[in-house]
Amino acid sequence: MSILVTGGAGFIGSNFVLDWLADRDERVINVDKLTYAGNLENLAALDGDGRHVFVHGDIGDTALISRLLTEHQPWAVVNFAAESHVDRSIQGPDDFIQTNIVGTFRLLEAVRAYWSGLPKQERETFRFLHISTDEVYGSLAADAPAFREDTRYEPNSPYSASKAASDHLVRAYRQTYGVPVLTTNCSNNYGPFQFPEKLIPLVIHNALAGKALPVYGDGLQIRDWLYVKDHCSAIRRVLEAGAVGETYNVGGRSEQTNLDVVSTVCELLDELSPRRDGESYASLITYVADRPGHDRRYAIDAGKIERELGWQPQETFASGIRQTVQWYLAHREWVANVTSGAYRDWIVRQYAS
Ligand code: NAD
Ligand code: TYD
Repeated sequence: MSILVTGGAGFIGSNFVLDWLADRDERVINVDKLTYAGNLENLAALDGDGRHVFVHGDIGDTALISRLLTEHQPWAVVNFAAESHVDRSIQGPDDFIQTNIVGTFRLLEAVRAYWSGLPKQERETFRFLHISTDEVYGSLAADAPAFREDTRYEPNSPYSASKAASDHLVRAYRQTYGVPVLTTNCSNNYGPFQFPEKLIPLVIHNALAGKALPVYGDGLQIRDWLYVKDHCSAIRRVLEAGAVGETYNVGGRSEQTNLDVVSTVCELLDELSPRRDGESYASLITYVADRPGHDRRYAIDAGKIERELGWQPQETFASGIRQTVQWYLAHREWVANVTSGAYRDWIVRQYAS
């Protein structure tokens, strides 16, 4: 038995692969293009483990994906591969269109051809699980109810628009061709191996380096945070028991303003790695220009996956963020390695003003 995972060297994908292989003997074929966000160091614990087959490649390479599907005969494909950072999508949307839309389309084409050729019973048990985001639903007013699976799509950034387009393609492959697809739309993740361009690892990294902690606009935008391992357990649950053709919203019922998130990280750092001068890391908080088109609030109603599949997150924001700060403090070499090269160039461009 095997599954094929795309983007498994990125933040969520690598956590998923590690967790998957921790409790089962199914082989994972991991196809990743190794963009700036892909890091094989995340998977170092699997060195020499024959259950993990890494393939350097692009989801848009239909010939490669077709060959891998034929060779390994996976019962599921889990699509994490994407360009994932909103600010990058604003500076340069091209890669987002190519990977998130065209890449997903080409992947679906390869999967459709493979799935069509399977014997009847295997066609029925095969699953294509597309990993998506709550950002496709757009921005919520302060008093609006949380996003449900039937909330209208209203994406506002090139990133969320490209993810929305990929979600629609996935849906169409079920409706038109019968491919057994599932989609999860998850809220903001945090935890080990997140690239330090996203808010939480960026703040930890900058604080330890004594640099400004950039807060966009008034810092009162709200995100609904979920510990990455809880997202991975939701994905496993959807693969096991999700109804074909359904979408599932995944979230931790943990809405926080950005300012509260940054302040909590500072308090934890004050406790776990106090500054020599006795000052709080919070003194580094710096308000900077807002993100164009910045969504004000995201919130997930996870009622469907909780009721229908019995999924529950294990971590609260308090327990998850503590573990995350501890992880970054214990893995400074990992951070040092990813903060070289391309990442540094990006930071210079993003915060130049
Ligand atoms: P990430 O940017 O950390 O990782 C993306 C991975 O995909 C990288 O390893 C990269 O090398 C790979 N990749 C990019 N283009 C590729 C291509 N053309 N072919 C093959 N591999 C390619 O992203 P992440 O935060 O781990 O997000 C994974 C998925 O989860 C994305 O689809 C994202 O939209 C979704 N998601 C993320 C969050 C979040 O908070 N990070 C929340 C909800 C959903
Ligand atoms: P981010 O981690 O980029 O995730 P997303 O945009 O997908 O929600 O950002 C989380 C929130 O933090 C978002 O409202 C933007 C804000 N933010 C800052 O205030 N400063 C920063 O330097 C970054 C990267 C993000």
